[in-house]
Amino acid sequence: MEKTFALKGNIIYSRTMKQFAVCENGWLVCEDGICRGVFPELPEKYRGIPVTDYGDRLIIPGLTDLHVHAPQYTFRSVGLDSELIEWLNAHAFPEESRFADPEYAEKAYRIFLDDLLKSTTTRVVTFGTLHAESTFRLMELLEETGIRAYVGKVNMDRNCPPTLCEESAERSAADTEAWIRRCLDRHFENVRPILTPRFIPSCSDKLMELLSILRKRYDLPVQSHLSENPLEIEWVKQLCPGTRFYGDAYDRFGLFGGDGPAIMAHCVHCPDGEIDLMKERGVFVAHCPQSNTALASGIAPVRRYLDRGLKIGLGSDVAGGFTLSMFRMIVDAIQCSKLLWRLDADSPAPLSFEETFFLATVGGGSFFGKAGSFEPGYEFDAVVLDDTSLAHPQPFTVKERLERLVYLSDDRNVAAKYIAGRKVL
Ligand code: GUN
Ligand code: FE
Repeated sequence: MEKTFALKGNIIYSRTMKQFAVCENGWLVCEDGICRGVFPELPEKYRGIPVTDYGDRLIIPGLTDLHVHAPQYTFRSVGLDSELIEWLNAHAFPEESRFADPEYAEKAYRIFLDDLLKSTTTRVVTFGTLHAESTFRLMELLEETGIRAYVGKVNMDRNCPPTLCEESAERSAADTEAWIRRCLDRHFENVRPILTPRFIPSCSDKLMELLSILRKRYDLPVQSHLSENPLEIEWVKQLCPGTRFYGDAYDRFGLFGGDGPAIMAHCVHCPDGEIDLMKERGVFVAHCPQSNTALASGIAPVRRYLDRGLKIGLGSDVAGGFTLSMFRMIVDAIQCSKLLWRLDADSPAPLSFEETFFLATVGGGSFFGKAGSFEPGYEFDAVVLDDTSLAHPQPFTVKERLERLVYLSDDRNVAAKYIAGRKVL
């Protein structure tokens, strides 16, 4: 029962997409890794459980990074004055080639995880590289941190440099199946495999066909990229004649939600038909506003997606994005939505702070089941924030204090972190 305890502090989380629930000097109860709720006084039945008093600090639910490239972390902030395809060829692909060496991978992944652990992120869905050994090592290292994660060995067998290209569709699928079996044999507590065709330009039809068999055989979720950049979209049209839109190229292989969950990163330039299909198939949109501005991809119409009832979370997309801070992603999502609204008179209202915080917690967390909230029954992911470094003479409400912490996006404010009831920081 070491995962049964209470935390005391100023508790704030999303009650709905439009409204925070705030409990000043409240009690947050965790029973066996599950949140039992927020209380102004500790209920009778929990008297006697261990209590950590965080005083005047804030306690919020953990955040989910729904789309990140772990191997790209250590070159973040380099070479962002280009668009997607040029950037992939000049920076992402050469760096990922280095992960053929598991020792290099171990070094780079440790740097990634040291920083991730100190952040507000409690759950991630990440790409590895095409290298099964290095990707498995990333999973072992993640398992130790306690961070909940889906990790993908990347599939790519065309249109990439010889140093980062699988030798055939068959070889790619065989390596992937061996990796999946190894993951299942290992019985990770915190980490799960996810099928990861990189994007349509780097996956042949044959490979997609073989991955669709693996998806069914092992009942795996899928992650990939969708409608990120205009040149990329044009390229997909040429590579896949007869498809109605980009998403169709995944859907014809059953890799676009429906039977199993799928995350599609970006969704910046989706035509109406694609949006309809995402809705029908329950596809998760990983909105990556920092990457979309850094690589000049565009601004995803998130408000439209919300109005359509799509599932949405936020992603850093490091190293298209240049920081792991999910607070910063909240800010970038809000800023992008404001610019879109101002530049296009027909576009709907920008995103509010409440809505965007919801996306970063409950929105992305729902890919993992019940995560990202302090409502009873959710997995107990909590982040304790210390804002004493942000001096101010005037009074602020708890919500205003949270807003400041989010806008200033400094991981040094993270004082403690719990994931599924385990203290990890
Ligand atoms: N599309 C295919 N690969 C990538 C990648 O590594 N990053 C981004 N942002 N888009 C991609
Ligand atoms: Fe990406």
